Amino acid sequence: MNSTLDQLKARFSQALVKAFGEQYGEADPMLVPASNPKFGDFQSNAALALTKQLKQAPQAIAQQIIQNLEIDDYCETPEIAGPGFINLRLKQEYLVSRLHRMLASDRLGVEPVKRPQRVIVDFSSPNIAKEMHVGHLRTTIIGDAIARVLEFQGHDVLRLNHVGDWGTQFGMLITHLREACPAALQDSDAIDLGDLVAFYREAKQRFDEDEDFKERSRKAVVELQSGDPEARKAWQILCDQSRREFQKIYDRLDITLTERGESFYNPLLADVVKDLATTGLLVEDQGAQCVFLDGFTNKDGDPLPLIIQKSDGGYNYATTDLAAIRYRIQQDGAERIIYVVDAGQSNHFAQVFQVARRAGWVPETVEPIHVPFGVVRGEDGKKFKTRSGETVRLKDLLDEAVTRARTDLSTRVQEEGRDESPEFIGHVAETVGISAVKYADLSQNRTSDYVFSYDKMLALQGNTAPYMLYAYVRIQGISRKGQIDFTQIANDVPIDLQDESELTLAKHLLQLDQILAAVSVELLPNRLCQYLFELSQKFNQFYDRCPVLQADEPQRTSRLALCDLTARTLKLGLSLLGIPVLERM
Ligand code: ARG
Repeated sequence: MNSTLDQLKARFSQALVKAFGEQYGEADPMLVPASNPKFGDFQSNAALALTKQLKQAPQAIAQQIIQNLEIDDYCETPEIAGPGFINLRLKQEYLVSRLHRMLASDRLGVEPVKRPQRVIVDFSSPNIAKEMHVGHLRTTIIGDAIARVLEFQGHDVLRLNHVGDWGTQFGMLITHLREACPAALQDSDAIDLGDLVAFYREAKQRFDEDEDFKERSRKAVVELQSGDPEARKAWQILCDQSRREFQKIYDRLDITLTERGESFYNPLLADVVKDLATTGLLVEDQGAQCVFLDGFTNKDGDPLPLIIQKSDGGYNYATTDLAAIRYRIQQDGAERIIYVVDAGQSNHFAQVFQVARRAGWVPETVEPIHVPFGVVRGEDGKKFKTRSGETVRLKDLLDEAVTRARTDLSTRVQEEGRDESPEFIGHVAETVGISAVKYADLSQNRTSDYVFSYDKMLALQGNTAPYMLYAYVRIQGISRKGQIDFTQIANDVPIDLQDESELTLAKHLLQLDQILAAVSVELLPNRLCQYLFELSQKFNQFYDRCPVLQADEPQRTSRLALCDLTARTLKLGLSLLGIPVLERM
């Protein structure tokens, strides 16, 4: 079923046609959720918007719209307010019929999109032989949530991990591997990634200080690129080591990705250059092959070149991304390509998209989108670092969150005199800790920088994972206490929304499809977080005011149905953020 808003918009369009003629079928009904429940549920500003065109007073236009509006099945009689706003209030019968549909559906009434798209989400994408750091945490968490929402909407999503597994840095890594740990070439378990980060540093140091090493590294790059078996083996070992460490993090975060790193596009780079040459975009500038960009200039105001192939024949990060976008459109059939990458790379993507468009690779129907996000800051407002000033390793960060969650939980369990098994404590602490980290990231508008605070993200109050998980647990508690099996509630149970808080909760529940639709357009998971936060608050208000188990029938079952719907909505919504629920905590 379409969202209520969409259906009402359609009715408005019909009314506009009836009142003013065919050409008004395209006019925007300007229908939005009401800003204040006092004014009803929706408000249309169409009458005001049309005054110029129709040369009539907005009040009169509103009158004519209302006369032609057939929405008896949805709303009470519409009201005109102020200068010509049309206010709509949903009928209780309509709300109940929607709640019934929601109860009956395992998708909570959210229908898959009518025209699924082939979507690529490019996210996470750490670099081989380097530790995954807190910047990669944001892309990993945000990218996964976006992918989950789009998958739920019915899109065909390819989750791509564009790992940095190619480039000249492998020359020094291979050379250092050959010379410092030749054993690793025999037995690939001889080094592990903890070492590999130090290993990278050592290689870099030798590269910077030792001219001969530099020369051997350059040779190694050539060997690797020409497919020399031994160089490739060394490269493979380095990649495998990193991959194993990355996978531990993905497993812990419950994240699935298909790895297709930069090396995948290596054989396609020459074609990119050829293609760009044929379209006449390629210009030689000081020996390098470049495309001069529109709208990008250097300090002197001259057009900025994007270097496609360096004078030594090498390629750049941008060349790989050009090959990638071309491949994703032509081979993967992508219609929407979403790059979840930090805001620092905005220019890079704007440039790549521009060149791809000018080369004619991006049909009208394809939408490449850079989904930027801000940096992670510590509570002091500075870039998030360890106390000794180093970048925080993702693994340590997750461990710390879990440890703190465990301490909080153990204290609470003790205070409440509960007797819980170590397995229970362990499971709850891991879930709460990881969920808190994920939720704290997702609940911020991703475009702004975000302040990382263990205390805030683990708080039981506020817009946090623990608060949301707790609301769910509270509802499971009701079912345990009353020995209620929610699945036994009939899909057509009589629902009576008498108390204001019941009505408010029911209306909020029914906004789920609208919110998910908005998230999949705007790619802002924080909107889903906000929705779930308000849902928990509205549920808590309802539960404080309305007795459930103590209520008489038929009210009791009606309220249990609201509890069940709230729990299922929380569970679904959180799962789309990559967060599992707990039955007890
Ligand atoms: N490896 C890059 C980094 O760590 C991110 C890659 C993003 N994706 C892309 N298609 N460029 O900064």
